Amino acid sequence: MAQEVIKIRGGQPLNGKIKINGAKNSAVAIIPAALLAEDVVTLEGLPQISDVETLVSLLGDLNIKTDLDHTNLTVDPTEIKNASLPNHKVESLRASYYMMGAMLGRFKKCVIGLPGGCPLGPRPIDQHIKGFKALGAKIDESSPTSMKIEADELKGANIFLDMVSVGATINIMLAAVRAEGQTVIENAAKEPEVVDVATFLTGMGAKIKGAGTSTIKITGVQHLHGVSHQIIPDRIEAGTYMCMAAACGTEVELENIIPKHIEPLTVKLRELGADVEMNDDSAIIRSKKPYESVNIKTLVYPGFATDLQQPITPLLFLADGPSFVTDTIYPERFKHIDELQKMGGNIHVDQGTATIKPSQLHGAAVYASDLRAGACLMVAGLIAEGVTTIYNVNHIYRGYTNIVENLKSLGADIWSEKL
Ligand code: EPU
Repeated sequence: MAQEVIKIRGGQPLNGKIKINGAKNSAVAIIPAALLAEDVVTLEGLPQISDVETLVSLLGDLNIKTDLDHTNLTVDPTEIKNASLPNHKVESLRASYYMMGAMLGRFKKCVIGLPGGCPLGPRPIDQHIKGFKALGAKIDESSPTSMKIEADELKGANIFLDMVSVGATINIMLAAVRAEGQTVIENAAKEPEVVDVATFLTGMGAKIKGAGTSTIKITGVQHLHGVSHQIIPDRIEAGTYMCMAAACGTEVELENIIPKHIEPLTVKLRELGADVEMNDDSAIIRSKKPYESVNIKTLVYPGFATDLQQPITPLLFLADGPSFVTDTIYPERFKHIDELQKMGGNIHVDQGTATIKPSQLHGAAVYASDLRAGACLMVAGLIAEGVTTIYNVNHIYRGYTNIVENLKSLGADIWSEKL
């Protein structure tokens, strides 16, 4: 992909309507999960992002026929063949680790490169490995670039996760649906994306109970069939646009949302003083600056999402006093702070807590270190005086469908330029 920058001339009011896409973090698990089916799977409502394209291409490497048409994907795994996946595609996104659980379930064996993804500080996968081992797999980590996971047979087990992990919960489910007998995951993640994957697998014939609670019980089955599934709306994409609207929205309406999934953000935006009107499956957000200072601590679902900690931060410059942000999930997820300082933001981080003081931001050349840092810089650019140039925007395109066009349609002065 050619390198691009995104440029934003801040200060324009946002006004209009946006339709939220399917959830990235559901899609990136459900696409690998489709390889468990013995016949055709159709997925609807996929986000149009590069992570989806990469995973579809990985399915192709296993001789799976795919047809990606905008938001719809057909996956035909009837001629699937096991193959090693130790390549650059695996390393380009974190969620490629879901190929491990899915391939283990399907073939009892996989050889795969190590997952990449956003640099948010340490992101081990020890809980995924612990789960696979409990199901009977042996792991060969002797190669510095790839991992071999193999089981003579998969047997259900009781697995207590040391920490709540979305990835480990889903990955263990993917393997356990084909294990013999019952698997119980304790201290499981309750995120909506876990529930969406469980709904998808259940539609294929899997037996899963308790998804959305901290105990998930899976009884393995021998065959999984094709299914048609609609991906849930992306609560993080919706949350990002809510932050943008609270930054400078006269009136912005978001369609295709599940209000309950975004509640922690809604509550925080209202605490700031923004006007958030929630309907059954849509929201209207109006900016009401100046704002009041707030404190934010990220937690596992249903707490405040770590993925929204960065996008909401620029709003705190518009508050009347100091605000504090602590990320308990990724205590080092603060790479956006240096960039906000370049824009004139009075912000610093000390021992895992960012302190944000009222500031007038100005345009600057800034670098998106990761996906949500990129979203944060876009919110900052919308409120800054002058032009902000965001580099490394491939991170942003990994997670947001047509974000430049969407913001343009709302009235933002925004454009992309090829380098
Ligand atoms: N952790 C471990 N060991 C493990 C797994 C996790 O120590 O084996 C730790 C992590 O280092 C982290 C915490 O447990 O401190 C939670 O990590 P989790 O496994 O839940 O994260 P993940 O599954 O790798 C997903 C999302 C992230 C999101 C987190 C937290 C996907 C593909 N990614 O990551 O999304 O931040 O859950 O909600 O679903 C994003 O969309 O920008 C993004 C980074």
